[in-house]
Amino acid sequence: MTLLAARLDEEWAAPPSTFGAGGAEPYAAALRNNDNVLYLRRARPGSASEASPIDAGRWSADADDTDQRLLDGVTGPVLDIGCGPGRMVRAAMGRGLPALGIDVSATAVRMAADAGLTVLQGSVFDPMPREGAWAAALLVDGNIGIGGDASALLTRCAELLAPGGALLVELSHDAARDESYLGMIEDSAGGRSAVFPWAEIGIHALRDRAGAAGLVVAQDWRLDGRWFARLLRA
Ligand SMILES: C[S@@+](CC[C@H](N)C(=O)[O-])C[C@H]1O[C@@H](n2cnc3c(N)ncnc32)[C@H](O)[C@@H]1O
Repeated sequence: MTLLAARLDEEWAAPPSTFGAGGAEPYAAALRNNDNVLYLRRARPGSASEASPIDAGRWSADADDTDQRLLDGVTGPVLDIGCGPGRMVRAAMGRGLPALGIDVSATAVRMAADAGLTVLQGSVFDPMPREGAWAAALLVDGNIGIGGDASALLTRCAELLAPGGALLVELSHDAARDESYLGMIEDSAGGRSAVFPWAEIGIHALRDRAGAAGLVVAQDWRLDGRWFARLLRA
C-alpha cells in the first residue's frame, strides 16, 4: 500500500463533516483565493478512490443565463440552500425578490455578507426563518447532494416551501444516476477536506423520491448541458 493510500484510508474513517470543510479546508481557501479548479474525491468501497475536477470558479462568478432562468416566474421570497458566496442570492435580489442564502461555511457566508447579500450561517436541517412560507427554494450546482441522503433533503425542502411554492433542483447529467457516497474536496496541491456524505441523482431517482417527500415534479428541462427540475408541494 502506498503512503497516500494508507493516509487516505485513515481519512475515510474519520467522522463526517460537510462539503469541503475540515482538514486543509480547501473549499474555504478556494473561495478566498478565487481558485478555479478543485477535485471531488469519492470513496470506492473495495477499490482506490478517484478524483474528478469541479469548476470552483462558478461559485464566485455571477449567475449566468442558465442560472437566471431558474428564477423566471418566481414572485416571492427565495431561499438558496447551500448558497456559497451567494451568486443566486445576488441574482434573486437583483430581480427585486426578497432572498436569503443559507450555508454552513463561515467563509462563504462572510464573503456573501461582505458583498451586501442576505445570508445566514447554518444547516438547512436547522430551524429556519419563514419555515413553510418560501415561494421558492434552490438546490443548484450539485446541492441535492447535501447530507448524502436526497430523500431526507427533499423532505426537508418540502417543509420549507409555502403551499404552491417551488423547489428548483439541478440534477446529474445522467438521468439514471442514483448514488450516495463519502467524498472529500481536494486542491491541486493535494490538500484535502475531511470526509463528507454527498449524493448525486438524476431525473429518474428524483421522480422516484418526490412523492414520499411530499413533492411532485412539475417540469424538467435541459439547458447548456445542465439538467433541472421544478417540484411543487403535493
Ligand atoms: C457545491 S457548493 C455550491 C455553492 C453554491 N450553491 C453555488 O452554486 O455557487 C455546496 C455548498 O453547500 C454548503 N452546504 C453543505 N452542507 C450544508 C448544509 N447542511 N446546509 C447548508 N449548506 C450546506 C457548502 O458549505 C457549500 O457552500
